[in-house]
Amino acid sequence: MIAPSLLSADFARLADEAAAVAGEPGEGADWLHVDVMDAHFVPNLTLGLPVVEALLAATTVPLDCHLMIDDPDRWAIGYAEAGAYNVTVHVEAAKDPVTLAKNLRAAGAKAGLSVKPGTPLEPYLEILRHYDTLLVMSVEPGFGGQSFLPDVLEKVRTARRLVDTGHLTLLVEIDGGINADTIEAAAEAGVDCFVAGSAIYGADDPGRAVQALRERVLGASAHRHWSG
Ligand code: DX5
Ligand code: ZN
Repeated sequence: MIAPSLLSADFARLADEAAAVAGEPGEGADWLHVDVMDAHFVPNLTLGLPVVEALLAATTVPLDCHLMIDDPDRWAIGYAEAGAYNVTVHVEAAKDPVTLAKNLRAAGAKAGLSVKPGTPLEPYLEILRHYDTLLVMSVEPGFGGQSFLPDVLEKVRTARRLVDTGHLTLLVEIDGGINADTIEAAAEAGVDCFVAGSAIYGADDPGRAVQALRERVLGASAHRHWSG
């Protein structure tokens, strides 16, 4: 799955930017990734619930809301109630992540848990049983256009193993520095869903960039199966 990140889109034309990657069914973006930042959990400030509500009315592509905010226990539920498909909170910010996941699911959304590059997975394996997606950050959250941190692929491999052996049931998502040069390594490590901002919205044709990334993933997955 490919999830273009609107962080690198033109904020004055979000509906057009969403349409630019929507494509034909089965070809375009699977999710649209929306980065919510509060200038507290991360140093940057982006957009919040009113803009997400406007986007929900403007596109049929499911919204993948990545909340880089303090106190998600209080604020995440609004995104689920508004109709976001997947709502991801940071484990470093959540006070009661199990209750939070239950509330998100009860509101009709998928529940996502994100870990910063320096945050290990091991302490959170029980909590992850309550989640539908695991978002592994491959840059420090806050800004687009940073370089991919390959060390996080070890966490992807761990999560992939736990999913493949039936210990967890979730989708493994990666976010940060994903482009034509890095996406194959992420695919081979076992990522299911690839977020890409600058690699898609920095391209002349964002729709074509989605297809090009998908082709790279399909090539890499074939390699993963052949090599066992
Ligand atoms: C960064 C955001 C990412 C960002 C990725 O904190 O979470 O979603 O858009 O941008 P690129 O793909 O340019 O690294
Ligand atoms: Zn993000």
